[in-house]
Amino acid sequence: MMSNHNSMNNNNDPKIELHLHLEGGAPPKLIRQISKEKNIDISGIFSQDGHYIFRDFRQFLSVYEAATSVLTSPNDFYRLTKAVLEQSAQNGVIYTEAFLSPDFCGGSDMAAWRDHLAAIEEAATEARHEWGITMRGIVTCIRHFGPQKAKNAALCAAETANEFIRGFGMGGDETFGTQGNYSYSFDLAREAGLKLTTHAGEWGGAESIRQATEDLKVERLGHGVQVIEDLSLVKKIIEKDITLEVCPGSNVALSIFPNIKSHPIAKLREMGVKVTVSTDDPPFFHTTMCQEYERLTDAFNWEQDDFKELNKAAVSAAFCDDETKVRLLKELDTK
Ligand code: ADE
Ligand code: ZN
Repeated sequence: MMSNHNSMNNNNDPKIELHLHLEGGAPPKLIRQISKEKNIDISGIFSQDGHYIFRDFRQFLSVYEAATSVLTSPNDFYRLTKAVLEQSAQNGVIYTEAFLSPDFCGGSDMAAWRDHLAAIEEAATEARHEWGITMRGIVTCIRHFGPQKAKNAALCAAETANEFIRGFGMGGDETFGTQGNYSYSFDLAREAGLKLTTHAGEWGGAESIRQATEDLKVERLGHGVQVIEDLSLVKKIIEKDITLEVCPGSNVALSIFPNIKSHPIAKLREMGVKVTVSTDDPPFFHTTMCQEYERLTDAFNWEQDDFKELNKAAVSAAFCDDETKVRLLKELDTK
């Protein structure tokens, strides 16, 4: 595609990503390869040209779960993590926070979770050495699996909270139940010292964001973009210093906004909301961090300095330790 003078190649510009679902980053080729090795037929989730195919959000979630179902061993997650981090590093990502779901790693069984997590962490350590990318994990429950399963995920999170596992969050179908239904899990995770985020205001509107801030007391919001519906709530999240993990390409791919120009990220930023940029599930939404930056440049004339400011805000809102933050800020300034 032709690009204008603004959309210079930004591959090498260092980027911080705060919202990436590990399974959502799975290259279709890897999922096909593993399904072949295990003789599992999931051909229905792919288009003829080999991409994931779905019509809407609900179907996206079921395609996502079908793709994930072939990942059954710690080694599968090792391979997944390497593949995802290699992609991210090729897009200039120097730090990524990945959502990890115990439900998909042995069904939230604690021993199985520990084994899967060890494999993921081994891959992350290798990726740091090979490609210079740092990863941290946010353990995530799946909202439409219900509050009971979320408790198991929170227990897994609390038991494995450390330098690598930094946070607890919730993804899945935001129209299922209320945020408050999950407060037990979020309280448990907070007491274990984990930082908190939840998908809110992707599908559930301003009300879901209100619940997330009041009932779950999260410090960040996954998406959060529907806050634009309620200006008094915009003011509140600014006062509470809540950062949004905005995924513009994901929102457009799922038709929450018809195109990037009508996406509220620029308006929210102008209003003083702390926004950051992430991909969510890059191969599912045909995006990469470089493409996100290019589209934002084309739509809003954002330049290198704008992205630098966004990336600094992302470091500030990251769930990692201060020493890592200092290193990342240095890398943003020198690379
Ligand atoms: N899981 C993976 N991607 C998601 C999204 N965009 N919303 C909710 N849950 C998800
Ligand atoms: Zn997400």
